[in-house]
Amino acid sequence: MANLDLFAESSSGVPTADRARMQALRELLHTYAHQYYVLDAPAVPDAEYDRLFQELQLLESAHPDWVTPDSPTQRVGGKPLDQFAQVRHAVPMLSIRTETDTDPSGALNFDTRVRKELGLTESDSPVEYGAEPKFDGLAMNLRYENGVLVQAATRGDGESGEDVTQNIRTIGQIPLRLPEGVPAVLEVRGEVYMRRDDFETLNERQRQRIAAGEKGEKTFVNPRNAAAGAVRQLDPAIAAQRPLSFFAYGLGEITPVEQGGPAFGTHLGMLQALKLWGFPVADLVDIAQGAPELVAYHVRIGATRDQLPYDIDGVVYKVNSLALQKRLGFVTREPRWAVAHKYPAQEQLTTVLGIDVQVGRTGKLTPVAKLAPVFVGGVTVTNATLHNEDEARRKDVRVGDTVVVRRAGDVIPEVVSVLIEKRAPDADIFTMSGSCPVCGSVAVREEGEADYRCTGGLFCSAQRKQAILHFAQRRAVEVDGLGDKLVDQLVDAGVVNTLPDLYRLGLTALAALDRMADKSAQNLLEALQQSKQTTLPRFLFGLGIRHVGEATAKALARHFGQLDRIMDATLEQLLEVADVGPIVAASLRTFFDQTHNREVVEQLRACGVTWEEGEPAVQAPKPLAGKTFVLTGTFPTLSRDQAKDLLEAAGAKVAGSVSKKTDFVVAGNDAGSKLTKALDLGVLVIDEAAMVALLRP
Ligand code: IVH
Repeated sequence: MANLDLFAESSSGVPTADRARMQALRELLHTYAHQYYVLDAPAVPDAEYDRLFQELQLLESAHPDWVTPDSPTQRVGGKPLDQFAQVRHAVPMLSIRTETDTDPSGALNFDTRVRKELGLTESDSPVEYGAEPKFDGLAMNLRYENGVLVQAATRGDGESGEDVTQNIRTIGQIPLRLPEGVPAVLEVRGEVYMRRDDFETLNERQRQRIAAGEKGEKTFVNPRNAAAGAVRQLDPAIAAQRPLSFFAYGLGEITPVEQGGPAFGTHLGMLQALKLWGFPVADLVDIAQGAPELVAYHVRIGATRDQLPYDIDGVVYKVNSLALQKRLGFVTREPRWAVAHKYPAQEQLTTVLGIDVQVGRTGKLTPVAKLAPVFVGGVTVTNATLHNEDEARRKDVRVGDTVVVRRAGDVIPEVVSVLIEKRAPDADIFTMSGSCPVCGSVAVREEGEADYRCTGGLFCSAQRKQAILHFAQRRAVEVDGLGDKLVDQLVDAGVVNTLPDLYRLGLTALAALDRMADKSAQNLLEALQQSKQTTLPRFLFGLGIRHVGEATAKALARHFGQLDRIMDATLEQLLEVADVGPIVAASLRTFFDQTHNREVVEQLRACGVTWEEGEPAVQAPKPLAGKTFVLTGTFPTLSRDQAKDLLEAAGAKVAGSVSKKTDFVVAGNDAGSKLTKALDLGVLVIDEAAMVALLRP
């Protein structure tokens, strides 16, 4: 029915029409925003949304008194504050006990405690849990009265937090108004966070602002800090430019059942209701029966952690039955019915002790940050590559800096960012010098290349050392026990200058080295002796020809059968080999055109290094050409290397990690995260026997 007041304002009836239209627009815009932000399924083009939004804005400016706090236009705007008001939480925001143990026992400990406190014995059935990711953002309490968002507050000390309503309104995923029928008082708790892609975009924009000389701008260390900064931003116009997201995971105050509030039986039932009311709830939320399923959840989510669009630092387990939660109650300020089970931290702060320039086997110069040791991603890290001069400059890492180091999964550690505010005023900018730090030869950076290279070749002792280590490694001729310390000693003492020198070593020369016991010297000589009997692909790979990796070496050996044929092959003949393109072919020719390289080969042969030669291959059938395999676990009969060789000989590619492009995962005993990933992606998983069957043409 029309409101009588309205007619008092005007007799034309127009206001009533406007008011109804405003109401309709708000409804439509709410629906569209929910479809866009929460369901990720926009129903109308952006332009249509913008058009309706502007129409509403226009009407609101004509009737400022009719602007409601839940109007979509209220997401942006608002005046900058001097400070945030303090808010006392109606129900305290508890913290959660953390199981610091990152291995599966964390879940077992929790389940054991819960069962004990509930008085359950072994014959009782498993406790049912809700399991969810532990989002790495900041906790938020959203208060709705009669379905309208009236207040958003940070956790603060748990008793009272800060009123950040203006900023929270700017988050598209947070409903300003809820559907009919929600409890009159409803406090939803969850995590405000920033997606990784949004974080990258934001930091890129910040870098551009800094480059353009804008004052007071900075980049953010990680998504969590960026999110926290945005929430605590006093100017809501700035907060509105910071892309935030939200996941709901709990409740605060709610209209009690006696007064018509909802009666949920379980945690997951409650999350289901929150989802229906329009709140984002993570898809990864799951149910788990007893400890084994908690462990499985921890492993499963851990395996996908790096691929998630947002950061998590663990998982949270919650007793699913709300009646049992009530029975378990609290210790101090932590519930007995919930626990956070962490993953190893992937980022830590440390200081840069120095920046070294390392010389690679092919002369590539790589700046490496020497770090004060930190435990990150499950290992102690002391070095992080800065890749090349451009990268080092882009990140502007300087000696003495406090930096964030990240090590995610099996990825090599890297410096993510620098805490500029902690930098000493006199810290020098890093530059690569124009000469090799080891041999002093000129270092050049070719046009279009990112790397400087030492031009010293084998004159450079660093390149010599790397060449020797490469030759001696397990996948090449394998000289057991010849590691980098020993190679340093041998080269520095001038006893080994070339590869053949290795086979000319005698007991006397070795025993003369520092810290070299007779027994070790004897062992090394034996290992060298053993390495002489090798295979053509291993030998070829061991020579360290640029662009000739293991797979190429195998392809060349298979194609030509004999080393001399490879050494004398023309470019055209080389290009006939599957896997060999113009760059590899040219690199092979350049290598074997140099007399000193041919001499090295001759001398190695003269020292007794041998392998079986064969006839050039008539194209063997390739039943697995074009297929990609990933190996995981221990197989009943084959070693991993043997399986790899067999697959490659049949034309397959063997990759190190599972992706959508993987055709088969061969799983043995104790298969790890690769198996989990394969199951997640729906990649075919087979065992050794099935793999062997596939090898038959
Ligand atoms: S439940 C009584 N669930 O972890 C239990 N917390 O609580 C209250 N957090 O800063 C918290 N993801 O913001 C819960 N799925 C999740 C969570 C979660 C992240 C955060 C929360 C708080 C911290 C400890």
